[in-house]
Amino acid sequence: MASRSTSADIAVSELTERQARNEYKRLSQEIARHDELYHGEDAPQITDAEYDALRKRLVDLENAQPVLIGGDSPGVGAKPSEKFAKVRHAVPMLSLDNAFNDEDVQDFVARVRRFLNLGDKPLTFTAEPKIDGLSLALRYEDGKLVTAATRGDGSEGEDVTANARTVEDIPQEIPQKGIIEIRGEIYLSHADFAAINARQEEAGKTVFANPRNAAAGSLRQLDSRITAQRPLKFFAYAWGAMDALPAATQFDVVKTFESWGFATNPHMKRCESAQDMLSHYHFIEEERASLGYDIDGVVYKVDDLALQERLGYVSRAPRWALAHKFPAQRAFTVLEGIEINVGRTGTLNPIARLRPVTVGGVVVSNATLHNEDYIKGIGGNGEEIREGRDIRIGDTVIVLRAGDVIPKVLDVVIDKRPEDAKPYEFPTTCPACGSHAVRDVNPRTGKEDAARRCTGGLVCPAQARERLKHFVSRNAMDIEGLGGRTIESFYDDGLIKAPQDIFTLEARNSGSLSRLESREGWGRQSVRNLFDAINERREVPLNRFVFALGIRHVGETGGKLLARHFADFDSLRETALKAGEGDAEARAAIADIDGMGPVVTDAIVEFFREEHNRKILDALLEHVTPQPLTETIDQSSPIAGKTIVFTGSLEQLTRDEAKALGERLGAKVAGSVSKKTDLLVAGPGAGSKLTKATELGIETLTEAEFLQLVGRD
Ligand code: IVH
Repeated sequence: MASRSTSADIAVSELTERQARNEYKRLSQEIARHDELYHGEDAPQITDAEYDALRKRLVDLENAQPVLIGGDSPGVGAKPSEKFAKVRHAVPMLSLDNAFNDEDVQDFVARVRRFLNLGDKPLTFTAEPKIDGLSLALRYEDGKLVTAATRGDGSEGEDVTANARTVEDIPQEIPQKGIIEIRGEIYLSHADFAAINARQEEAGKTVFANPRNAAAGSLRQLDSRITAQRPLKFFAYAWGAMDALPAATQFDVVKTFESWGFATNPHMKRCESAQDMLSHYHFIEEERASLGYDIDGVVYKVDDLALQERLGYVSRAPRWALAHKFPAQRAFTVLEGIEINVGRTGTLNPIARLRPVTVGGVVVSNATLHNEDYIKGIGGNGEEIREGRDIRIGDTVIVLRAGDVIPKVLDVVIDKRPEDAKPYEFPTTCPACGSHAVRDVNPRTGKEDAARRCTGGLVCPAQARERLKHFVSRNAMDIEGLGGRTIESFYDDGLIKAPQDIFTLEARNSGSLSRLESREGWGRQSVRNLFDAINERREVPLNRFVFALGIRHVGETGGKLLARHFADFDSLRETALKAGEGDAEARAAIADIDGMGPVVTDAIVEFFREEHNRKILDALLEHVTPQPLTETIDQSSPIAGKTIVFTGSLEQLTRDEAKALGERLGAKVAGSVSKKTDLLVAGPGAGSKLTKATELGIETLTEAEFLQLVGRD
């Protein structure tokens, strides 16, 4: 989390009003960011459980301080992406409140009964699996499918009609006149997901992390012929705009949809009490592994539609429905061995080889063991974890799999430890090259690194392979058709040993021995496509090039910061070389870039000092021309060359937008107020930064004044 304020660790009930306001803002932004990652980019960075925890804290805050609820409350899902036409939902597509335990479900039932003042009258709910896919709204007019739209931000989604027409479960026509909007979930079966990933991998394309992402990626294709090749499925379970409802209960409406030709979930059941609901929940939980598609909980809905109407909605979710989420999945299995995987920067990553076990419908045979200390029972700050229990080969272990994340070994069952099990001895040499593997001590903190690293650097083939994989990867050079497997086999056969070799592959392909066409799995067309993809990347944006080099601590953001600051690659290189020779000004030119700092600067200087890296760069630059960033900076703007700090809550711009806008207009956007600050833009809730700026006599503007100044009001 980028901007974690200390309030994040305080219980909701103990926050002061100001802290609550800030915390609310922070949570809203954080949730919006994860919504965008999940819905907009199909690339979640946190587990569903972590996301739910953020949402829960937000709801707790709203309950504790209702005044907070306002324009900041995050909507549902992400803004629709720019590439599809937009569709405004006639009835907003809402979300569901979550429950995590039996008590939450009992509370829900009690709440509904109280709201409806039911006394001891009976009340029926439906309970059905919560499908882990993406929601879709299908609008039929006079029996014909006219639009299909994704949820988007709940009010406006993306028009994916052409793609939806390729889905077999979606009827093109229904036997019902008027306006009918069917809603439900698009998903992929486990088997189809595996087949798609196998194809992706073969084609050297990125594989999808899970069926949900694959379904989203398939539905949001600009070319519907691609969607047509992905066997997407659809379950109907809800509706939007309707001229008339075909029945009086949730259950019967869904059954009517079935009679119109829609697939509906066979595990939808009527329940008469919380107890009934919970027992169906446990039934579905048991079925989960054999369903053949991902579900992440059970949805309960009040069955009677007249009662649904009376219950209505609170902010983003209906009062008449609840999603009861499954806990993170765990399973017991035997640790058969520990393998060490050598990463790009030489880290020795311990991987558990497990007796295969099904965890939440997925067969798991590998899991991470994090690092040497983790295996020993020592945490990140030297503290004891698992009450100090170490993990040994032969142990029965508990494996945890939460959503998309890599499974991990959580604990051991000491009672089942074989008598002859010995503590695991973490290797002190690299399994790939035999060099010493050491744990560096961070000179600034005096703390030992958690990771043990191979010191073989350039002689280590594992590091070389991983560096190459990184070089070609999607966010780096993005060379299509050159995936991880291909790199490995080309590396092992000596075809590509260093990044520059990629660009001479075509020229070298004339020799009979190195002809790619004769390799297994390759043909004339695929070889041609690969060469074309490589040639396309002879010019790449500078930020991608810098990121692709794999300089330690320089991620995508670092690449961008450097590319923004240095006009071209040569000036970055020259500055880094001068800094390496002790030129303090050159060093400051890198270290002073906002977001860089000393550790990154050291790594950059070190990278360019290394003789081997210089040779590779010289060779590489004969084939690749990094292109300067073309973000145009407006030097004539009133804030050009000024240093600005944003503080407090902004109402019209997000923080990222404000920063980007400032930078585009030629300003430096800093995180803290100092004598160098020219301008402070302060929104409501501004605190110490505003005080300091006032003390220093720095000009202060409101957000509206700032927007007026830069002509964006
Ligand atoms: S009912 C007004 N039923 O879960 C809410 N949603 O977390 C109507 N979902 O956006 C939704 N399975 O994408 C409903 N059986 C089911 C569901 C389901 C999956 C999704 C849906 C919704 C999200 C809410």
